[in-house]
Amino acid sequence: VKKPESGSFPLLDPPPDEIRRMANAAVELMAEYLGSIRDRRLYPDTSSREIREQLDRSLPAEATDFEQLLDVIRKTLLEFSRHNGHPRMFGYVQAPGTAIAAIADLFASTLNANLTAWRSAPAAVEIERLTIDWIKQIIGFDSNAAGLFVSGGSMANMAALAAARRAKAPLGISNEGAQSCSRALRVYASEEVHHSIAKAAALLGIGRDNVRMIGVDEGYKINLDTLVAAIEDDRAAGHLPICIVANAGTVATGAFDPLEQISEIARQYNLWLHVDAAYGGFAALAPTTRPLFTSIAQADSVALDPHKWLYLPVDCGCILYQDPEAARAAFAHEAEYTRVIGQEADEAFAFWDYGPELSRRFRALKVWMLLKGVGLQALSEAIEKDLKCARHFESLVQSSEDFEMLAPVELSIFCFRHLPPKLRNIPADLNKRRVREEKLDLHNERLLLALQHDGSSYLSNARLRGRFALRGCVMNYRTTLRDMEILLDDLRSVSAGLEISAE
Ligand SMILES: Cc1ncc(COP(=O)(O)O)c(C=O)c1O
Repeated sequence: VKKPESGSFPLLDPPPDEIRRMANAAVELMAEYLGSIRDRRLYPDTSSREIREQLDRSLPAEATDFEQLLDVIRKTLLEFSRHNGHPRMFGYVQAPGTAIAAIADLFASTLNANLTAWRSAPAAVEIERLTIDWIKQIIGFDSNAAGLFVSGGSMANMAALAAARRAKAPLGISNEGAQSCSRALRVYASEEVHHSIAKAAALLGIGRDNVRMIGVDEGYKINLDTLVAAIEDDRAAGHLPICIVANAGTVATGAFDPLEQISEIARQYNLWLHVDAAYGGFAALAPTTRPLFTSIAQADSVALDPHKWLYLPVDCGCILYQDPEAARAAFAHEAEYTRVIGQEADEAFAFWDYGPELSRRFRALKVWMLLKGVGLQALSEAIEKDLKCARHFESLVQSSEDFEMLAPVELSIFCFRHLPPKLRNIPADLNKRRVREEKLDLHNERLLLALQHDGSSYLSNARLRGRFALRGCVMNYRTTLRDMEILLDDLRSVSAGLEISAE
């Protein structure tokens, strides 16, 4: 028997001992990093130029030793990164990642499974179908729903709007294009909706301007009367309403739209109901927020982000569709190179029929490793603890003189601002009040930048009713009640270094 020659490319195909040596050294560094994350400076004080100077910029014709590569990871990557796993990383909607998921990613890349269809990755596809089933159970969604992992919430929202358009707009749009429909398609969402909805509408030919941004109440939830009036107006004007997007946790304040009432409106007007639960979806695991999800089963589609409140590393978004056939109608496309030949239904299954991607990485493995390896009980306790941290922060602010809340805390997002002594008094004069508000905006904006550069705590920002807000989101099993107190202390000490003028 003629054996193929082996070992011609030892750097591309190293022997097992060499793989062990590299991996052990890398895992050692990973453990060292995760073990020290709490004590690291959260955000580096650096510049693009400084980092570029650290990197050898010459095109690498020859190989570099593995130890030297790890050295670059240790001295440049780890030193000049924002540490998203730090317990006081409160910016944006940022998960910390977990060690078990990093190990899952190592296996996903080792196997290099490509989850296009069952025939391409039989066990991996079964793991994805299983974990999608678990996610349906976690949020209380229909067990017959279809779903798959995508890159993130933005892609999940786009897939949902594509399915909504296919289900509720004339068929000609898919084949002949948007110009075949003389009526404007309309999508409705609160003005607090994530910008990925307008972006998806633009990319799908629905048009950004056809996403009607509905006003919100004092809790930043969609105003239902305005929603109904907008749908009625559009129908009277000859437009074609197709979809309502409800927020299960808005990105700015964490507001949860009333799903029960919205689903009734969607049913009444025969509209697709999409729920953007990219941020808030896994709050379904926490006992105190579980009741918010009672009506989620009424949705036609739900966007979730395991790479947010399931603590997983990017990327891992998820889209669920109540009616698998509605998703297939939007995404299935017959081509000879994808045609599945001679298989039974379960084995003929293909993810490409349900989403925009063909080649897909094995995102499900980290979801599976996390859910099995950690268990729902601990995840539920960690999420409940995050909620408690945000509520604790709210009560600290409410009982302080030098801070005020700018929105109610519903999930784990808190929006507030600093009131330095010189700007604390509220003048009766309207004009002076306006000037004070502008000064507070400016002060809090400078305070945010100073806090980020200080490196002990990290917040991001929001604009609420025209005012600049400091915004934090607790999404980390490492964060404690004490970290919330340290955040306020950090803000006070950073503020002491800023010049504030009352003039
Ligand atoms: C409510 C909401 N929807 C959608 C997204 C977009 O998610 P991704 O960044 O995963 O695309 C976000 C991101 O923060 C979000 O908070």
